Amino acid sequence: MLIEFFHYLTTPASLTQRRLGYLRESVLLMSRSRRRHAAWAAHLDASRSIIRQASADLVRRRTTVILGSGLLDDVPLPYLAECFEKVILVDMIHLWPARLAVRRYTNVTLQVADLSGCVDWLRGEGERCTDPLAFLDREEIDFVVSANLLSQLPILPLDWFESRGRSIPDGLGRSIVMNHLEGLTRLRGRVCLLTDVEQVTEDRKGRVVERFDLLHESALPAPDRSWIWDIAPFGEIGRGNRQHHRVHAYADWHMAMHRPT
Ligand SMILES: C[S@@+](CC[C@H](N)C(=O)[O-])C[C@H]1O[C@@H](n2cnc3c(N)ncnc32)[C@H](O)[C@@H]1O
Repeated sequence: MLIEFFHYLTTPASLTQRRLGYLRESVLLMSRSRRRHAAWAAHLDASRSIIRQASADLVRRRTTVILGSGLLDDVPLPYLAECFEKVILVDMIHLWPARLAVRRYTNVTLQVADLSGCVDWLRGEGERCTDPLAFLDREEIDFVVSANLLSQLPILPLDWFESRGRSIPDGLGRSIVMNHLEGLTRLRGRVCLLTDVEQVTEDRKGRVVERFDLLHESALPAPDRSWIWDIAPFGEIGRGNRQHHRVHAYADWHMAMHRPT
């Protein structure tokens, strides 16, 4: 609790990042990932491994961009910093663990960006941005990773409407997800996509109590790899239930897109 308060007070973040809940969510994610360190290890290992595999045969390794870099738990930063001339870590919030980690490297930088395209719109500044990845349209970017970010993108924009008792614009969640996928498709370099796709809640007898589509009915092609992320044990979300997420991993999104869903 005290450590969460410390991060909440001291993390460099704008009023908007705070008001819309981005700082709060990052701090909660950090606490949860530290608490669930052992159970999340397999998921984080698998994520780092596919990122290494996806970039292993690249001919050019100028700039790599990690979208949703967060706590860097699923990002093999030492490997990327060694293999690429430049590493850019993009997130709405960079907490202190990530800020301190990048200080070890001269070729790694942090960038704050809203990858949902909704933030300026929600604070009353213009229209919703339909191509939040347009800033990556640069020739020198050879490798982009979307690092367990996609399912998170709609959450706070949808919360914004719900918490104000306003109806959510039709199809908003799906459109945020699709804009991200289409943005990745337009990029010139290789794209590695890691995303959880489904949340399953089970009771103590192993019966499925609820299935929740984390991607708002956006169908994805068959993944290169898929695994279970043991997200919440019994006790964390109530005594009688536990939750896991199914994760899909695409080492090369441009190739995968041509597969059937
Ligand atoms: C589940 S975490 C990803 C895990 C992260 N790669 C790690 O190793 O800690 C999702 C990340 O997406 C970021 N995020 C959520 N909405 C975002 C947005 N609109 N723009 C940029 N980043 C966002 C969160 O701040 C968080 O760091």
